[in-house]
Amino acid sequence: MQYTKIEKIAKGWSSFIWLIRDNAGKTLVLKGVREKSNRKNLAEREGKMLTLANSIGIGPKVKEVNFEKNFVVMEYVKGPKLLDFVMGEDFDSVSKNEAYALLKELVRQCLALDSIGLRHTQLQVGKNILVTKTRVGYKPTIIDFEKASIDPEKKRLRNFGQISSFLFLNPNGTVAKRVREKLNLKL
Ligand SMILES: Nc1ncnc2c1ncn2[C@@H]1O[C@H](COP(=O)(O)OP(=O)(O)O)[C@@H](O)[C@H]1O
Ligand SMILES: [Mg+2]
Repeated sequence: MQYTKIEKIAKGWSSFIWLIRDNAGKTLVLKGVREKSNRKNLAEREGKMLTLANSIGIGPKVKEVNFEKNFVVMEYVKGPKLLDFVMGEDFDSVSKNEAYALLKELVRQCLALDSIGLRHTQLQVGKNILVTKTRVGYKPTIIDFEKASIDPEKKRLRNFGQISSFLFLNPNGTVAKRVREKLNLKL
């Protein structure tokens, strides 16, 4: 597939994210590896884990995994990171019901990942979850499956544990505090 690069939207330690357009004019995201990085297996890891997440309807849909050039092309998800969404001013005008629906769906996705033993491992700061405004409310999308791993025993609710602590239970967390206030929860 041929793509046209539009703009670089993020640059991490060893990866970069490009907004691209395919030859049908559709906007997509390309996640690749920076030249100096030693993360040689991004396509392998992210491609495999995100494809597995997609099999139960989770994560941006994978369009291409290119092992030779070490990149993954996926659906573009519009909207801020959950951390910025919750800490930003706009969250003040989000209703309790809207926040509840958004977070309940996020918890559902974490439980679904737990049920297939796919452990994300980086859900604790809210940077790997994007929030999209829809006609009926807000929708979460979990991204960045590069550090994910498979728990063959499927015994522990790893994602559920991580997200519950981050969203609700952490006594010192600023995000948990704002979420508890919004939902009228007491620890
Ligand atoms: N599918 C996507 N749609 C929209 N933005 C994305 C997508 N994937 C990544 N991004 C943006 O790029 C940033 C970095 O991507 P991420 O996969 O988390 O890489 P890193 O390994 O650098 O953390 C994200 O925080 C988000 O802002
Ligand atoms: Mg990330």
